[in-house]
Amino acid sequence: MRLVRRFIARGSALAAVGALFVAPSVAAAQTQGTTDRQVTFTKDVAPIVQRSCVGCHRPGEMAPMSLMTYEDVRPWARSIKARVAAREMPPWHIDRTLGLQSFKDDPSLNDEEIATIVKWVDSGAPRGNPADMPPAREFADSSQWQIGKPDLVVKFPTYVVPPAGPDQFGNLYADIPIDSDRYIQAIQTRTTTAQARKVVHHALSYAVDGPQETNGDDSQGVDGGQFLVEYASGKNAEVYPADTGVLLQAGKKAMVSYHLHSVGEEVKADIELGIKLHPKGYVPKHIRWSKQLAQPTVDLDIPGGTVARTDGYTVLHKPARIIAFQPHMHIRGKRQCFELIYPTAGSSATTEIINCANFNYNWHLTYNYKDEVAPLVPAGTILHVITWHDNSSANKANHDPKNWVGDGQRTIDEMGFSWIGWYDLTEEEYKQQLAERKELQSKPVTATGGQQQQ
Ligand code: HEC
Repeated sequence: MRLVRRFIARGSALAAVGALFVAPSVAAAQTQGTTDRQVTFTKDVAPIVQRSCVGCHRPGEMAPMSLMTYEDVRPWARSIKARVAAREMPPWHIDRTLGLQSFKDDPSLNDEEIATIVKWVDSGAPRGNPADMPPAREFADSSQWQIGKPDLVVKFPTYVVPPAGPDQFGNLYADIPIDSDRYIQAIQTRTTTAQARKVVHHALSYAVDGPQETNGDDSQGVDGGQFLVEYASGKNAEVYPADTGVLLQAGKKAMVSYHLHSVGEEVKADIELGIKLHPKGYVPKHIRWSKQLAQPTVDLDIPGGTVARTDGYTVLHKPARIIAFQPHMHIRGKRQCFELIYPTAGSSATTEIINCANFNYNWHLTYNYKDEVAPLVPAGTILHVITWHDNSSANKANHDPKNWVGDGQRTIDEMGFSWIGWYDLTEEEYKQQLAERKELQSKPVTATGGQQQQ
């Protein structure tokens, strides 16, 4: 039911833009299928909760309560209704009315699933027939490596989180024991104990030259450093597509930028990185990059009580396949849109909105495109990122709507760029991937792509 078809064959810029702003007309169909009978936990709600919630809401993970069983879920029914109806849970902030809608590991609920939960709560949250209950979802022991045995384990120094107090932000460093440049095949951040898992809100890892001046920010990028991997609660291992790797240069230090929070007892936050490497001397066909792109063209200048817009642009000098989009702002962050400006000489079909996402500083979400939609772009494409900051009292996270805010590293300062994940293509690979995409799209499926018409 997702509205994704329109990216396929674009007739004209007008047709494309027209289609972009049509909201999905699913409202009428929302409750179909569940209107005529009682909605129960075991039959209707448990499958949704198992798919979209228990990844975080289970014992030992960082969400505040387990949602594994009816007994777990029942006391939270009202709160669950409120959070899912407001699309606050599961955390996923992509605007569903425009752009690509096909992502890897998308936990978000469709309108029908939300309607089912709302109806279940409104009808008294009945359990239903225990025989309808799906088997509990199995999880690998979260203290095991999901990438298999790593070739390298980088352990960061222990950080002791006090029982109470404000959130802790900062950087920790460790050596990376390699003597020549290597390529990462798979990487995973893990916390070594269930207790540690509870206190780690985010941990972003980089390869850097040495200690950084940044602090007060859990996800600030670094000068000359390379982003390796992001970790947030519920995040699994990153395994890159075949023939793809992330460059790990010899002589760098590993840095983890952390955001930790207190949970009522003293906890040792041990964080480590497990890395599987491609064999020595092997250079993968594609190097996967993830960088902070399209920085605002002007200094951020956001007077108290206002909403400000900035624009940033990055030119891709080679053809590319874009594989991920992650908005980055701080607490005034409101929304970000990611658009492509194609290098067409003529006047038609030169831009395309790829995605817009609302923003909540508590959740730094990466949106990974499914292979069949990952935008394929020609050399000379410009990434255009539009960022809105809300420094008014309408932004609930804004503790200080009277004050001016500008650029800076601290959480109370602002930023506005995107983490973009991509790999470069040769002209030949680009043509080949485009041809494969067209072939796919000529079939009656909902595959899409942001590629330019040739
Ligand atoms: C990525 C991890 C994650 C996923 C997936 C997730 N949650 Fe949460 N949830 C959290 C965290 C962390 C909190 C506490 C922070 C907050 O309230 O935002 C939370 C808070 C909540 C709360 C508020 C609890 C309170 O103290 O009032 C409810 C209700 C909730 N989640 C329901 C759900 C439901 C229902 C789903 C699935 C449809 C879901 N969550 C999916 C991580 C997650």
